[in-house]
Amino acid sequence: MSDPLLKVSGATVAFASRSGDFLALDRVSLQLLPGQTVAVVGESGCGKTTLARSILGLQRLTSGSIWLQGKEVKGTTRNQAEKVGMVWQDPYASLNPRWRISRILQEPFSLGKQKGDCDALLTEVGLDPSFANRYPHELSGGQRQRVAIGRALALRPPLVICDEPTAALDLSIQAQILNLLRDLQSSLGCAYLYISHDLATVRYMADFVIVMYLGRIVEYGPVERVFEKPLHPYTKTLMDSAPSLDEIGVLPRVTLGELPTVSQRWIGCRFAPRCPFSQATCSSTPPPVLQSSSHGAECHFPLNHED
Ligand SMILES: Nc1ncnc2c1ncn2[C@@H]1O[C@H](COP(=O)(O)OP(=O)(O)OP(=O)(O)O)[C@@H](O)[C@H]1O
Ligand SMILES: [Mg+2]
Repeated sequence: MSDPLLKVSGATVAFASRSGDFLALDRVSLQLLPGQTVAVVGESGCGKTTLARSILGLQRLTSGSIWLQGKEVKGTTRNQAEKVGMVWQDPYASLNPRWRISRILQEPFSLGKQKGDCDALLTEVGLDPSFANRYPHELSGGQRQRVAIGRALALRPPLVICDEPTAALDLSIQAQILNLLRDLQSSLGCAYLYISHDLATVRYMADFVIVMYLGRIVEYGPVERVFEKPLHPYTKTLMDSAPSLDEIGVLPRVTLGELPTVSQRWIGCRFAPRCPFSQATCSSTPPPVLQSSSHGAECHFPLNHED
């Protein structure tokens, strides 16, 4: 098996809030192999973007470590553009409105001290080279996201993080952008960390899925296995409320009630207050970590559990 491209080991990020510190990431561990797509799913506030920012070196870890191509990402690491490309959720906010597209696409090349071919990059993401002279406001949302993808892939990084890359786009455009990402992966061989709360797109995009709940990974496994036989009641609830594949891009209709407050010293399972299968143990004892390298969940009473 090839060496991991990305290794996140016990990554923990604490933020202060009025009601005390809380853990936006709580001992998160994962690995990504070259060329693989790993999806991270979970509701708003579960820590997906904090994880992305930590991998980019934009967020300091409270504890734990992150390794990219065998090198540790320390503190706030700069100039990672050659290793990690980033596609943000909102193509309206992520492109400098005062820069022409040519300058936006040249930027990574200047950071990487390389000569760039802006026309080739535009063609690669399905835009005419004449777009180089335009400003972001002259482009549609989908066209802007194509530019953002071009910028992320300019230096051919082995890893690209896509944080809800289609969430801000019209439904008709979403599938086109996902197809572009898939096509570029086939031709360039990059790995994706694909962040989304849209399970239909996760199934379409990813090989492996990680389900997060309140800063913690509660289930992980190969996409088909997790979709067919989810172990964690939280995963099942997310799936039951998710639309079908032909409604790709539609937000899940989750009616789970309020998120409980995050506490640094959580005792039992943090999903227990919302779990339909919760028993007394669930709130009083930490859930056991299932020791499976392929499919596992942190749950006292996993569903579909085969021993
Ligand atoms: N710099 C910060 N300071 C304090 N709290 C923060 C900071 N950044 C994020 N948080 C909090 O950490 C938690 C996780 O946030 P994060 O943005 O990682 O969630 P997310 O899963 O990306 O959510 P969404 O789906 O809405 O994008 C949230 O409760 C958020 O309010
Ligand atoms: Mg986010």
